[in-house]
Amino acid sequence: MNFTANSLLLFGATGDLAQRMLLPSVCALHADGLVPEDLSIIGTARHDFDDGAYRNFARAALEKFLPAERRGSMATFLNRLHYQPLDANDTAGFAALAKKVGSTDKGLAIFLSTAPNLFEPTIAGLTASGLTGETVRIGLEKPLGTCLATSREINDAVATAFPEERTFRIDHYLGKETVQNLLALRFANILFEPLWNAAHIDHVQITVAETVGLEGRVGFYDGAGALRDMVQNHMLQLLALVAMEPPANYNATAIRDEKVKVLRALRMVNPNETVTGQYRAGAIQGQPVPGYDEELGKPSETETFVAIKAHLDNWRWKGVPFYLRTGKRLPQRKTEIVVQFRHVPHSIFAGPNRKNAGARNVPNRLVIGIQPEENITLSLMAKVPGLDREGIRLREVPLDIAMADAFAGPMKRIAYERLLLDLIEGDQTLFVRRDEVEAQWEWIDAIRASWAEHGVRPQGYMAGSWGPSSAIALTERDGVHWHE
Ligand code: BG6
Repeated sequence: MNFTANSLLLFGATGDLAQRMLLPSVCALHADGLVPEDLSIIGTARHDFDDGAYRNFARAALEKFLPAERRGSMATFLNRLHYQPLDANDTAGFAALAKKVGSTDKGLAIFLSTAPNLFEPTIAGLTASGLTGETVRIGLEKPLGTCLATSREINDAVATAFPEERTFRIDHYLGKETVQNLLALRFANILFEPLWNAAHIDHVQITVAETVGLEGRVGFYDGAGALRDMVQNHMLQLLALVAMEPPANYNATAIRDEKVKVLRALRMVNPNETVTGQYRAGAIQGQPVPGYDEELGKPSETETFVAIKAHLDNWRWKGVPFYLRTGKRLPQRKTEIVVQFRHVPHSIFAGPNRKNAGARNVPNRLVIGIQPEENITLSLMAKVPGLDREGIRLREVPLDIAMADAFAGPMKRIAYERLLLDLIEGDQTLFVRRDEVEAQWEWIDAIRASWAEHGVRPQGYMAGSWGPSSAIALTERDGVHWHE
């Protein structure tokens, strides 16, 4: 049943995500008149707030995290907010929450962001208090488990109350504009698709580099590490969008059917195809920063960096490595996808006569910048102007599209604006289906098992560097340089 919800229930309503992303996103949607006129928003968490105190809390968050020019309708937005304190372990407490939410007949969208061990009690509480049913859908924020088994437990618990068509698993990378633009680039242009395969592509690189460190997330991050925090979800979703077959339609089933096939085609990696690291003290943009151990306050073997040479065992990608790397405390914040094409089959410029001897022909490269800048650059070879007395010279020139210039009009939106609106309206296209999450975990679990078997421990790297030197060696031994 399709419906637009007129209530939004936010779990974790006093948490970091709510302050930085959720409240600013819904406030921005409200300002643009995009949420239902009668939408009421109920926040819940352990904190002992009443409506008034929560509105003050939300105002402070909006003043901090929403740009002033988007705060115009903040006062009317705050009037939509209500709050109910709740300990998710106390099933009885859900009755008061249900009372606060009121009737769900006109549609309720729940946004559940919680520690993995609270999913089950929360679902039990929602069920006991009647906050489930045909007019209720649920959005689930990561981490959805810590391995395939725990992810299944969570998914099973959720499935007792919410069928798949009312379960919206969030991967906020899918809410990013340039990530969605990948589909437009691949499938709205005839140029790329005929070349998008092992015959013409040498390799693909996906980098998600961050300059931040632990950011105070001590409890969570140390139990997760870069592989589970970033690769299991965001990076594998990027990989799936790059590698999938053309879906028949731009709809949830068609797109997710194709993504899951890619995820299932991931080959188990050998331990020598992965590198893990942990940052030591160093400097980021000239500012000294402590090492991971120091930030954490104890020694740890959690990886803050991982690089992987991945393979897809299917016809399209036979023999094409996908180099993935992500890390904290790297020199710059950068998410990008690099598609490296192959050499031309025969270079007419490398011939024996004086005029063309030795002209260097560099294979084409497509760079899709996702953040901080959104741009698409295709490098092409061109002749350097001149009379060529010493022979023709060729040089790489970029064909550059800066999305901010090309689309100066439309405003840049927070990824969660898109995702929250889709959750309220019930569009699953940009949400992750259960089979995808499970295929992702299966691959990640196998990597972790092989690390355990081979006693792999993270190597130190200096904060502000591009990770351990073996991450460079991972590609260099294939004659490939990371794009920096
Ligand atoms: C989150 C991770 O999912 O994504 C964080 O838990 C990470 O560790 C964040 O910092 C990165 O998101 P973005 O949108 O800033 O690239």
